Amino acid sequence: MVKAVAVQTFGGPEGLEVIDLPVPAPAGGQVLVGVEAIGVGGVDVVIRRGALAAYGFAEGHILGGEVAGTVTAVGDGVDTSWVGRRVWAFTGTGGGYVEQAIAPVEEILPLPANLSAVDAVTLGSSGIVAHFGLSHAHFAPGESVLVRGAAGSIGIMTVQLAARGGAGAVAVTTSSAERGDRLRALGATHVLGRAGEGGEDAPAGYDVIIDVVAGADLPSFFARLNPNGRMVVVGAVGGQPPADFGTKMMAAFQKSMSFATFSAATVTEADRRTVRAEQFAAAGRGELETVVHEVLPLEHAALAHQKMDAGEVFGRIVLTP
Ligand SMILES: NC(=O)c1ccc[n+]([C@@H]2O[C@H](COP(=O)([O-])OP(=O)(O)OC[C@H]3O[C@@H](n4cnc5c(N)ncnc54)[C@H](OP(=O)(O)O)[C@@H]3O)[C@@H](O)[C@H]2O)c1
Repeated sequence: MVKAVAVQTFGGPEGLEVIDLPVPAPAGGQVLVGVEAIGVGGVDVVIRRGALAAYGFAEGHILGGEVAGTVTAVGDGVDTSWVGRRVWAFTGTGGGYVEQAIAPVEEILPLPANLSAVDAVTLGSSGIVAHFGLSHAHFAPGESVLVRGAAGSIGIMTVQLAARGGAGAVAVTTSSAERGDRLRALGATHVLGRAGEGGEDAPAGYDVIIDVVAGADLPSFFARLNPNGRMVVVGAVGGQPPADFGTKMMAAFQKSMSFATFSAATVTEADRRTVRAEQFAAAGRGELETVVHEVLPLEHAALAHQKMDAGEVFGRIVLTP
């Protein structure tokens, strides 16, 4: 048997329960990973609350999409040389909070020897969203960038990649001065409050805005784009924008601004793999910082979710079996 954590009841973290499952057997095209680290993602919280029940997520769901560990078995058609190799693995929209996880072989990537499993699950998904979110925005060196919701795993990677990519300025929104200082250490040049207040010396306008938040303040940030500026929404931790957002966008017609959403699901598996391997290598060399908020035992998944709910997480919480 293996230990897993399931959402037995939608709602608060107390609905999470440690259960025993039979050891899963990899089907054709799949591998079994002996898990060393599990990334706790924002979407796990959304599923736990039951907000995605309409999309097929039912009570009893095993959370988690990102794990790292060692391949212990492979299914039909999978090269047996994978067995014994340390990998990062995407398990899908669930199946990650477990001691041994199943993943499709095309969704695993070998870990460099100098990258820990904990660091891999901190970087694996968020780094891809940051990289391709910036390229979706056609970010170019010298441009000014604003990262909204920068204290999460996606924002932290976006700040670093924008700074490394030669941004002229990297402004961030965050809820505290202490977080602002930590983001400055990662490459931010200007720190604003959640509603865009403060940061008196910050640029008056931005060429690129990468937005993890959306929500009611989305139009006021869109209005901060420079002429020909591009805003890319990669997350919606603040909820949906107001219904009149479209009207406000049209009112700024003469500034030729662009609004887009971006999902990593639209990037080919080959492109994701290439960039993820480059980022793992860069993190192994110390050129990209993985920010781990805390490492907790798998059995304490509910505590991890309490911390997520309380908004006290800077970076990534990682569970270890
Ligand atoms: N595009 C994709 O392919 C993709 C892939 C995976 C996940 N996602 C999405 O990305 C999001 C999660 O990203 P993440 O883990 O980096 O984010 P996160 O850690 O959940 O949140 C990022 C930061 O936003 C700030 N924030 C939270 N609630 C806010 C609110 N109501 N108003 C303003 N600021 C708020 C918080 O920082 P402060 O307290 O410092 O302000 C928080 O640390 C989810 O929406 C998920 O669905 C997208």
